[in-house]
Amino acid sequence: MRYRSRVARILTSDHFDYIAAHTRPEDPFLAGLRAAAIEAGLPQISIGWAQASLMQILLRLRSARDVLEVGTLGGYSAIAMARALPRGGRVKTVELEPAHAAFAREWVARSDVPDRVEVIEGAGRDVLGGLEPASADAVFLDADKQSYVVYGEACLRILRPGGMLLADNALAFGSLLDPECRDDSVEAIRRFNDWIAQSDGYQAVLVPLGDGCWVAIKE
Ligand code: DHB
Ligand code: MG
Repeated sequence: MRYRSRVARILTSDHFDYIAAHTRPEDPFLAGLRAAAIEAGLPQISIGWAQASLMQILLRLRSARDVLEVGTLGGYSAIAMARALPRGGRVKTVELEPAHAAFAREWVARSDVPDRVEVIEGAGRDVLGGLEPASADAVFLDADKQSYVVYGEACLRILRPGGMLLADNALAFGSLLDPECRDDSVEAIRRFNDWIAQSDGYQAVLVPLGDGCWVAIKE
């Protein structure tokens, strides 16, 4: 018999509002960044605060120092992650779109962690390919979904043993289980989910916060 939890029968959007209301509040700086990103016309696809908070807790548990992000957007998650690192820690964040990278650089410079975030303009595949083996404690994937499997494979080389892989949009923008939906990005997420679930390289669990966040540890 297929396992169905009680939670699966009761969770509604009200519960996610409740979860957000029971998370330490988003600080004014990140709230300001979010508002400015909307004003500047950036896509409104940044992670939510509860997910950022989960990621900060995981980075702190891991005592992560060297973090890589693929897909900077406006810099919200990079700044949030940088705040969870010890002094000397660093987030390298890769962004393909020059206007997004420029926005992120501006907000990093104004933040409380200007020396902990480096915005690298370029393609994730190129930047990952140039990184040293076993040089990262954690990687957050939030870029082009078609490349997620390639990124996940590259991270097996880049991550230190016991390093953490986080990946956004595991629930494919809400369309994961819609059999009619054959959108390229949704199909790519389905392929990534199947790949990481059966990977010998990672122990992984899909956490249903935001649009779904994979939390995986490199074996
Ligand atoms: C899209 C990308 C994201 O990373 C996200 O969180 C939501 C939407 C998108 O490409 O549409
Ligand atoms: Mg995302």
